[in-house]
Amino acid sequence: MKAAVFKKYGPPEVLQIEELSKPAPKKDQILIRNYAASVNSADWRLRKPDPFAVRLVFGLFNPRKSKQILGVVFAGIVEQAGKKTTGFKPGDRVFGMTGMAMGTYAEYVCVAENGPIALIPHHISFNEAASIPFGATASLHFLRKANIQKGQSILIYGASGALGTAAIQLAKYFGAEVTAVCSLSNKDLVMAIGADHHIDYTIEDFTSGSKKYDIIFETVNKLSFAKSIKCLKAKGILILGSAGISETLRGILTNISAKYKVISGMAVEKPEEIRYIQNLMANGHLKPVIDKIYSLGEIADAHRYAESGHKKGNVVIEIRKPE
Ligand SMILES: NC(=O)c1ccc[n+]([C@@H]2O[C@H](COP(=O)([O-])OP(=O)(O)OC[C@H]3O[C@@H](n4cnc5c(N)ncnc54)[C@H](OP(=O)(O)O)[C@@H]3O)[C@@H](O)[C@H]2O)c1
Repeated sequence: MKAAVFKKYGPPEVLQIEELSKPAPKKDQILIRNYAASVNSADWRLRKPDPFAVRLVFGLFNPRKSKQILGVVFAGIVEQAGKKTTGFKPGDRVFGMTGMAMGTYAEYVCVAENGPIALIPHHISFNEAASIPFGATASLHFLRKANIQKGQSILIYGASGALGTAAIQLAKYFGAEVTAVCSLSNKDLVMAIGADHHIDYTIEDFTSGSKKYDIIFETVNKLSFAKSIKCLKAKGILILGSAGISETLRGILTNISAKYKVISGMAVEKPEEIRYIQNLMANGHLKPVIDKIYSLGEIADAHRYAESGHKKGNVVIEIRKPE
């Protein structure tokens, strides 16, 4: 099978297409003929690596695996089911995530059947299915932690990215009033997926206004911590989706005061959440937002674009065209 591998950390060019042997599923796994993946911050952060702590997990000087395959999202067809699996059968259209195991920039991938995997709703294509889970699982994790309620006001900062576009749709689904912050070029996009208000951060600093929010969801780590806190209502919640160490520590200190609540940390993709997202996709509450589609051979270009910090929603890798 063809796969995009990298053997040393570095720029997008370290990603190379190689021919590898097709994996065989273990008893509790299913083998998926992969049609689409997506390029997310998890991928380019590991490749660079950024932050430095990535090296502690994946290898200090070079990736520990001699041929590391990136990619955390897959969308494809079950080709073979392991002997002890019961949930899926050959021919099923499935999508999901591989987490730290990664490996989805490849024509085949094996996943545990009890992991974050679900059937793709009939009207959703493989490319569309691959575009949704990364932003949706992370945003759902944080919105649930904030216990978002109907009628609350939420400001989503970095609203046109993968997390942002999912967060807008989920917050609307939960009944919140959504203010989306991104540049003017993305206004039509964020309004089309449900935002009630738009603020162009290039001409307006919302933190200098008087409006206060129940929740501020900062997805891109570009906002001043102190200024964001000032824009919260009493007992308001600041979600730091992309916090560094200093913001995380400030969040812990703020939580001690109990005046506001700060939520940060790692989102974990759970099987039940992928099924929840599948249901929202099936009912039209969660729509795919795809910026660009690349082939597997264009993986370096796709990484270059994804890490520019200005993609609109998601970047998809079409690994093979549907028959
Ligand atoms: N904690 C976790 O478990 C977890 C999980 C997943 C991801 N993350 C983190 O989440 C972060 C965001 O990921 P993503 O994939 O959503 O990002 P992304 O798709 O790359 O975000 C790009 C968007 O951010 C907007 N943007 C850029 N600069 C901005 C600014 N100064 N103010 C407001 N908006 C700005 C851009 O809009 P314009 O073009 O209009 O500027 C663009 O549409 C990543 O850094 C990642 O590390 C964390």
